[in-house]
Amino acid sequence: MNALSDIYSRLPDNLDDLPPPPNEAAVQEADYRARHWSSTVPGPLKPGSQEHKQAVAQMFRDTFNPYKPSVINWPKLDPETLKRVTSLPIWDIAVQTEGKARLRMAAYASMIDDPDMKDAISRNAWEENRHKEVLSKLVEAYGIEMAPEPPYIEPGDPEWAYLVTGFSECVDSFFAFGLFKVAQTSGFFPAELIETFEPVMQEECRHILLFANWLAWYRATGPAWRRPWFELKVLAVWFFLVYERIGLARSVDSDGKEHTQDNNFTVTGAQEMTSQDLTLADFMALCLKENDRRFSGYDRRLLRPKLAPNLAKAGLWALRLAGRKPKAEPNGFAVPA
Ligand SMILES: [Fe+2]
Ligand SMILES: [Fe+2]
Repeated sequence: MNALSDIYSRLPDNLDDLPPPPNEAAVQEADYRARHWSSTVPGPLKPGSQEHKQAVAQMFRDTFNPYKPSVINWPKLDPETLKRVTSLPIWDIAVQTEGKARLRMAAYASMIDDPDMKDAISRNAWEENRHKEVLSKLVEAYGIEMAPEPPYIEPGDPEWAYLVTGFSECVDSFFAFGLFKVAQTSGFFPAELIETFEPVMQEECRHILLFANWLAWYRATGPAWRRPWFELKVLAVWFFLVYERIGLARSVDSDGKEHTQDNNFTVTGAQEMTSQDLTLADFMALCLKENDRRFSGYDRRLLRPKLAPNLAKAGLWALRLAGRKPKAEPNGFAVPA
């Protein structure tokens, strides 16, 4: 276990802690670099090639944002906003998801040999640990009541665990991008809080960009005999995720109080965050738009996660057939027609 916590608590550059940014301009520049990246290598970046694999690892290193959770200035919230934020049914599950993700990514990074992928996935584990720290600081700053965290258990099959975490992130991030936009546009979250979480959101975009390209690399380079087993495993992961998402997770804290956590909040929470009428079609269209925007700064030759956007497109198509088109511009939410 120690070895894994070494991976998620220490960057491969052997940095124990990050130096504070020298000034605001440096913060802005790091933020820009985290969102824009292109390889200088000409020609196609074919999954399975050295060029593609090295570009993926390079992208992950170069787009690293060195913010420090310990120096985040949590804005003071008025009582009404504070109540809104603290009563969202997401904080326990968010902290625990990051806790699991850091361990699973570290476990997978520790078992792979390829130095580029090992480097990228180790950094990813470190960033998940930082997300957990950010959330812990938020919980502390706003006095959010939390259920005790369950023990984090080292996965028996790190590849399975990495696939579960990777695919979950792909789906959750897609909807979270839309949800975040709704919370921003409606003022559900105050602007300062949106600003604080913005780098975390963009980081998830980088994580799923890494995952999609790792998956393509893995498929292209693994031995042919293993491929059918791997695809069966991927299918089993999807079944597991659907099963896991049905219903709500419940846990009871030390005072016997039940905490209900909504696993599907990224999908179901949108309407709660705005007083405007936001249909499912509007929300899907918004998620697609935000997804495109967040990925737009990265090298076009790197693959993007496709499943969640394709499902959303298929959903929109079906809703259109049923006469439920998204509004072209639902008050303030600019969505594609
Ligand atoms: Fe995360
Ligand atoms: Fe992540």
